[in-house]
Amino acid sequence: MCGIVGYIGFRDAYPILIQGLKRLEYRGYDSAGVALINNEGVMNVYKEKGKVSNLEALTSQRDISGQIGIAHTRWATHGEPSAINAHPHVSQSGRLALVHNGIIENYSNLKILLEKEGYTFKSSTDTEVLVQLIEYMQKKYDKSLENATIMALRMVVGAYAIAVIDKNCPDKIVVARKSSPLVIGIGADHKEFFIASDALPIVEYTKQMVYLNDNEVALLKIGKKIEINNLNYEDITPEVKEVNISLESLEKGGFEHFMLKEIYDQPRCMADCMRGRLLLNEKRIVLSTINMHRERLMKAERFIIVACGTSWHAGLIGKQLIEQWANIPVEVEYASEFRYRNPVISPDDVVIAISQSGETADTLAAFQLAKENKAMCFGIVNVVGSSIARASDTGIYIHVGPEIGVASTKAFTGQVTVLTLFALALGHERGTISKEEYESTIEELGNIPEKIKSVLAKDEEIKDIARSLTYAENALYMGRGFNYPVALEGALKLKEISYIHAEGYPAAEMKHGPIALIDENMPVVFVATHHQLYKKIISNIEEVKARNGRIIAVVTEGDEAVKEIAEATIEVPSTLASLAPLLSAIPLQLIAYHVAVEKGLNVDQPRNLAKSVTVE
Ligand code: F6R
Repeated sequence: MCGIVGYIGFRDAYPILIQGLKRLEYRGYDSAGVALINNEGVMNVYKEKGKVSNLEALTSQRDISGQIGIAHTRWATHGEPSAINAHPHVSQSGRLALVHNGIIENYSNLKILLEKEGYTFKSSTDTEVLVQLIEYMQKKYDKSLENATIMALRMVVGAYAIAVIDKNCPDKIVVARKSSPLVIGIGADHKEFFIASDALPIVEYTKQMVYLNDNEVALLKIGKKIEINNLNYEDITPEVKEVNISLESLEKGGFEHFMLKEIYDQPRCMADCMRGRLLLNEKRIVLSTINMHRERLMKAERFIIVACGTSWHAGLIGKQLIEQWANIPVEVEYASEFRYRNPVISPDDVVIAISQSGETADTLAAFQLAKENKAMCFGIVNVVGSSIARASDTGIYIHVGPEIGVASTKAFTGQVTVLTLFALALGHERGTISKEEYESTIEELGNIPEKIKSVLAKDEEIKDIARSLTYAENALYMGRGFNYPVALEGALKLKEISYIHAEGYPAAEMKHGPIALIDENMPVVFVATHHQLYKKIISNIEEVKARNGRIIAVVTEGDEAVKEIAEATIEVPSTLASLAPLLSAIPLQLIAYHVAVEKGLNVDQPRNLAKSVTVE
């Protein structure tokens, strides 16, 4: 969470920084700020509570000149959202400005130390301590900005991606990272540098990027190559990568919200995700990870999936698929719990981290624990070059393009698609899936993008149904088998963007408690497609009906039985049970979207949330 942006070069920094903050606003929107050094060597710092647009309004009549600057959009951890706690933070003498994403865990001890040296603090943030500490090192030991930064960071416990500027040296920016992401974009001939928490603010200027690694500090100086040192003062050779992200994918493309665009993007995303992997004509799946790591994957005794939120829901579907087709036991763990207990992990285990952003702190930490225990680390990630992607021994990118709406949609179907391909391929290699099932599932996977399109064509109908949920205070979501995790995901979508309390359950669990909640005001959304547990779920629907609950159901085209009982039904095309989530998730995403729009809420940036949870 929190997004940082920086620029040094020959262009005006301000427009680049503001545009960059807007691209990173999904990472937090409690406050925003910018620091610029103008041509007279004056450092101007502007900060405002709330969104980047508030910052723009604040700066409309101010001096925003300068070819060097840093900026920040905040998701508050220490200190309430306010202008005073907003970044950049400025050192006591006014010489340094710093932006930070992460948490300085030992900030109170450092603060006491600095207070003894006469430093005073304006904000209640952990970050202000760091900028004062760097200035203290600079003054006390007469050090350059880069060396003072290294000295300060050697005393810091915690996570950080930082950028620091010094008004006395306006030809450089110093950046550093530990456990929070930071990307450097290199302009032609090193005449300009861009920095950001991810590649999105940089792609329109350059494709040449360096992803900083943990404990590295980089000096960006106009006209010079990047110099990187680690905290032991060792020289590190920067690894320059070419990053290709289309600008179009960063825009709304005529949709009112990114979330809607991303929901509608799903047929194309699925096709992209399967391209070169699902060979329809040959009826087979090719995954380079299996070719490269066949032996290791074949001898896996167990898979452990670690993830959070929506990615965890995708993991629950992955468990069913891998167990069914590859006959390998799978455990699905909340990364935040897994990392703090003493889980049994053996070198024969394969630990799969699922993450859209590839930066979720808990998932990364769980992965590191797996690494320490010598398990194979397998990443299912969207953001190329992200921390989890780089920590993986192997893995599969979901390739659904940037997901900007805070509520995850296309990443979920992308993750499920990759898990489906992986489970099928693994089952085929191990000989645990029949040829008929392997081939018929491959064939049907090829039909799914078109079938998603036909679900999207029902959007107006779904919108009408969603309207009837606008005033609900609570909702239950029920599913069974492969549709149980879909119910969990539908409930999460509704609560996170429409602020309606919603819970997902396996439908048969209803009798063990939740049924007590049912009355005429309780909407219950059933995911009741025509699969192996269809008859059983009809009994569950009847039980709700008998208690006057309101029933909304996602059913298979041509369904008769549920239609007779439910207040409203949404039909999805018929498909295999194992592929049902790829279709049944779509109406639930649209329901949540339309309810939030109807309530006038900020769909893309729901309150208190951030897209990339880089703090635990
Ligand atoms: C919900 C949502 C979150 C994320 C979770 C994990 O819509 O987006 O629950 O799924 O924060 O994020 P990643 O997948 O980036 O690790």
